[in-house]
This record gives sequence, C-alpha cells and structure tokens, in this order.
Amino acid sequence: MRKSVFTLTLIAAAMGLSACGKKEEAPAPAPAAPAAAPAPAVLVGLAIPETHVERWVGDAEYMKKDLEAMGYKVDVAFADADQSKQNKQIEDMVTKGAKAIVVGSVTEAAAQAVESAKKAGVQVISYDRLITGTDAYDYYLTFDNFKVGQLQGQAIKDALALDTAKGKNITLFAGSPTDNNARFFFDGAMDVLKPFVTSGALKICGPAPTNSADATWSKITTEGWAADKAKARMETLLSGACKSVKLDAVLAPNDTLARSIIGALEQDGKYKTLPVITGQDGELLSAKWIMEGKQTMTVFKDTRVLAKGTAEAVDSIIKGAAEPTLTVKARVDTTTYNTGKKVVKSFLLEPVAVTKDNLTKELVDSGFYTADAVAKGTK
Ligand code: BGC
Repeated sequence: MRKSVFTLTLIAAAMGLSACGKKEEAPAPAPAAPAAAPAPAVLVGLAIPETHVERWVGDAEYMKKDLEAMGYKVDVAFADADQSKQNKQIEDMVTKGAKAIVVGSVTEAAAQAVESAKKAGVQVISYDRLITGTDAYDYYLTFDNFKVGQLQGQAIKDALALDTAKGKNITLFAGSPTDNNARFFFDGAMDVLKPFVTSGALKICGPAPTNSADATWSKITTEGWAADKAKARMETLLSGACKSVKLDAVLAPNDTLARSIIGALEQDGKYKTLPVITGQDGELLSAKWIMEGKQTMTVFKDTRVLAKGTAEAVDSIIKGAAEPTLTVKARVDTTTYNTGKKVVKSFLLEPVAVTKDNLTKELVDSGFYTADAVAKGTK
C-alpha cells in the first residue's frame, strides 16, 4: 500500500522520539514459544495369568496403582490360564508401544511372545513364575518358592508330631505341571517330609513321588491349578487308593485347591474330623476356614510387597539403570532359577506360614484384610 510522504514523516518522527525516550529500557522479550504438550506417559503392560486364583487380581491392582503413582500408563490383561491368549495380549502391548511388560506366565510357550517383545526392544520382567525356555529377559521377582513348600512340610510335621509319631497317613497334591513354581513348592515340602517317609512315620497313599523329578510326580499334579480337577482327584483317592486308611494329612499346594480337597473330604462320612491340610496365598475364604479349624495353614505371600518391588524394577529398567534398585526387602539369587537357557537373576521375597495362632497378626494387623472380611470369608 502506498503511504503519503506526510504520513511517513510522522512515523519516522515518532520512531525517533520513542527511540530517545526509551534508550535505557531492555528490549521487549521475545514472544513465548507455544506451550509444549506434556510428554505422553510411558506405557507398561501387565500380563497376568489368571483370575480363578484370587491373588492375581490383587497383584494386578497393586502393581497398576504403584506404576501409575510413578507416572506410567498401565495396560492390564488377564489370560484366563490360556497361554495363546496371553501371547496375543503381550503382542498387543508391544504394538501399543509398551516399554516394559511384566509377565506372570501360564506355560513355557510364553517364551515366544517374550522373544518377539525383546526383538521389538521391549523389556520383560518375569513375575512370580519363572518364564522357562528362553533367555530373552534379565530379571525375575518372586517369593522364595522352595521355602513356601518347606513351610507347608513343616506345618504337617508339627501338626502330626512326626518326630515321635508312627504310621501317619498322607496323600500328596501338586500344582500345575506347566508352572515352574509347582516343582519348587513340592520339592520344598518333601525336603521336610521325606525323612519321615523313609523312616515309616509317614505313609503315602496314592502316587508317592518324593521329588518333582520322579516319574510319578505327574500323577499328583493339577493341570491349570483347577479346583475341580483337584476335587475329582481327591474323590478318586477316597474311593480308591486311600479307601482303606484314614488320612491324617493332605499336602495341598495352594488355598484354592485346599478348599476343593476339603470339599471332597467333607462328602466322605469318615472325615468328621478333617485331616491336617496345607495351603498357600492367604486367600480370604481360607483365612476364615483356618480360624474355624477346617484348613490347618496357609502360606502368606504379601503380594503388595512383590508388586511394589516389581514396579520399582520396571521403573529402574525403563530409566536405563544398570540394575534394578528395590526399596523392598528381597534376597538376590543368581543360582537357583534356570530357564533352561540361562540362570536368571532373581529377587526373592520371604513367605510366612500362617495358622490360627498368627493369622490376625499377619493378615489383619498388616492391613491385608479387615477382621470383618476374614470373619465373613469375603470382602
Ligand atoms: C503362585 C501361587 C498360586 C498358583 C496358582 C503359583 O505360580 O505362586 O501363589 O497359588 O500359581 O495361581
């Protein structure tokens, strides 16, 4: 646009004046850059094996909360004890851009998904159950699984006073043969009980493996940790191999199976008084049954602490730390957990045996359950 000479002169004069008057002032600040959008939260996947065993719902809940408090976005998927379903869930998490995935596996076939995740640059942490058959991950967080079994064996030894007793009858159950933990639980229990089997103080009815490498071990396992399978097997034992004896104890690997075994025993008129029966996980209904004397013990594994330690490990590896830094109390083990491809660095938390005597202290005073929930056996 053409401006008149007069206008231009006025503008020039005004500029000159203003330049004189403002000589000492700092130049006007540059206009602020447009505010940067906040960085999207880093995604972490939680691949949880199942919900038919109560603890896993808590594991997911606690880890999600801890990771969100650290600023992560969390994707949780439950696999319903189906490894192909879990592998798809893991692949989805990788596609969505997860930087780390925590995997509680179902079977060894989890290895395929873990290896593809690694190829995509995603770090995997093995959670509670060792992922076998692969070396595509570096860390495993769990409880001392052998100790879990030892606590179960010790509870049977104490309750039956095996140091002095003779000819007590027991039958044996183990967890899912697809779960590496099941071997550790059984071997830990037999570590305590085997000397009494050898001495004759304890007699096994039904299949009698004394460690998980025995050929008969598969006969006492419970595929998929399924309660109905354990109940059916107990019924078969009661009408078959254990018919002519009165059982003094049943080695049950967890609470879900313990309760289904108790269900089968209760249908048998011979068991007005139930045998000693072990468990694991500190499930709510089992807590009630322990207080009522129906189940003898459980092994409490504080999943709040495992979840917290795992969230800390995830945070460390995402931030590129050379090693996970945990504030929770865990024993580092570099010799025990062999995937078949490598020995994985493991962080082991301490399990606690719980009977009627310390249940309130361990499960209620610790804030895990309310006294009311234990009394009702449900939340
Ligand atoms: C866990 C137990 C659980 C079982 C069945 C095992 O791997 O360690 O806590 O009871 O799986 O879900």
